[in-house]
Amino acid sequence: MSYLSELFSLDGKVAFVVGGSGVLGGEMSIALAKAGAKVAVGYSRNAASADEKVKAIQSAGGEAMAVKSDSTSKQELQSALDAVVTRWGKVDILVNAPGVNSPTPVLDIAEEEWTRIIDTNLKGMFLACQVFGKGMIEQKSGGSIINISSVSSNIPLSRVFTYSISKAGVNNMTKFLAREWAQHGIRVNAIMPGFFPAEQNRKILTEERRNNIFRHTPMSRYGESHELAGALVWLASEKAASFVTGTIIPVDGGFTAMTI
Ligand SMILES: NC(=O)c1ccc[n+]([C@@H]2O[C@H](COP(=O)([O-])OP(=O)(O)OC[C@H]3O[C@@H](n4cnc5c(N)ncnc54)[C@H](O)[C@@H]3O)[C@@H](O)[C@H]2O)c1
Repeated sequence: MSYLSELFSLDGKVAFVVGGSGVLGGEMSIALAKAGAKVAVGYSRNAASADEKVKAIQSAGGEAMAVKSDSTSKQELQSALDAVVTRWGKVDILVNAPGVNSPTPVLDIAEEEWTRIIDTNLKGMFLACQVFGKGMIEQKSGGSIINISSVSSNIPLSRVFTYSISKAGVNNMTKFLAREWAQHGIRVNAIMPGFFPAEQNRKILTEERRNNIFRHTPMSRYGESHELAGALVWLASEKAASFVTGTIIPVDGGFTAMTI
């Protein structure tokens, strides 16, 4: 086995991607499979999109299944874990990538909208950590949890108020769980993507906003979803990231390093 394979290979591992039907979650599902993992592609409504990712993985020789897993339903997440354990015997890697967003001005945000965003992005990621984390603890073979945060989590980004608050909570939760679960061999980290065109931000990334983003990004462009694969496979790997937990890794073209 080559040095790189020994460090990064996910052969024999089982991964679950909540929100795997989405743009970034889908690409991350495919990346994990390319690195050797069997992958459960989670979806809440868009079964067809999850099936597409499953077919892409299978036609490249990998193993995958689509599993309904609405992040707002603990019961559904539990059934999703059970389905994966029934099929593949265990789960080693959880990627938490559900996400909804809205550009509503602060004074106009209805309680229902606040609840929908916080429930999906923050409470949903918590419930998935709780269900899959418990499963990993009971397996007694460690694991890697990777939550998808955002550059809006540290400093408030204009137009995405509730979303930013949900992601700030994701950062705190990531560090808390890293501390709690290190004793079980479970590493908990987050990836903090910059700006990647996807479904949830399609209406927000107007031409004016794109120009502002590019001006504030040293690399002066959007990210491409495959550019998350390196950080993802590294954090998932029990060898390459064996001493890495509680970190929030930016993959943002330099956005968070930029001031005037
Ligand atoms: N695209 C970006 O620029 C960017 C930047 C930072 C962080 N993120 C985060 O990346 C993750 C993936 O988002 P994306 O940008 O690919 O958008 P996307 O809209 O393409 O994907 C989001 C996915 O979440 C799923 N989802 C929505 N509600 C859900 C629920 N209740 N349960 C389970 N899944 C649900 C959607 O079906 C969709 O598949 C999200 O957590 C998002 O906040 C994205």
